[in-house]
Amino acid sequence: MLTGRRILVVGAGTRPSDDPDPPVGNGRAIAIAAAREGARVACADVDEDAAGRTAAMVAAEGGDACVAVADVTDPESCDRVVTQAAERLGGLDGAVCPPCAEIPGYCVTM
Ligand SMILES: NC(=O)c1ccc[n+]([C@@H]2O[C@H](COP(=O)([O-])OP(=O)(O)OC[C@H]3O[C@@H](n4cnc5c(N)ncnc54)[C@H](O)[C@@H]3O)[C@@H](O)[C@H]2O)c1
Repeated sequence: MLTGRRILVVGAGTRPSDDPDPPVGNGRAIAIAAAREGARVACADVDEDAAGRTAAMVAAEGGDACVAVADVTDPESCDRVVTQAAERLGGLDGAVCPPCAEIPGYCVTM
């Protein structure tokens, strides 16, 4: 259980798709799964709308999520989103960044 934990998920959206039954990205899946386990989640993405859709999915299940914008290729953006998420959630217990798998180096800043 993650009850009361505060988790930042960067890349919490899902890439756009025309598929009528589109896949769910890792970040979105992690955000929803963490919320189902009781975590409060900060959904961050370079695509704010995509992060917002994930936060709405969490909220629709009764979870607690906020939205932030972050670009993991920009160290300042990473610093900013960590600060924002910690302010909104009252601290952070963990962070997950699936897109960092594709963009080596920058996740160290987070
Ligand atoms: N889907 C899979 O089966 C799979 C398997 C192994 C590894 N991966 C890796 O996991 C990562 C995520 O892939 P996915 O298919 O789960 O998700 P996805 O492509 O559906 O979503 C990735 C999300 O990351 C966001 N994003 C992209 N660049 C960003 C940036 N610079 N800063 C912040 N957010 C950014 C996108 O806007 C999108 O919402 C990729 O690195 C992928 O190579 C995926």
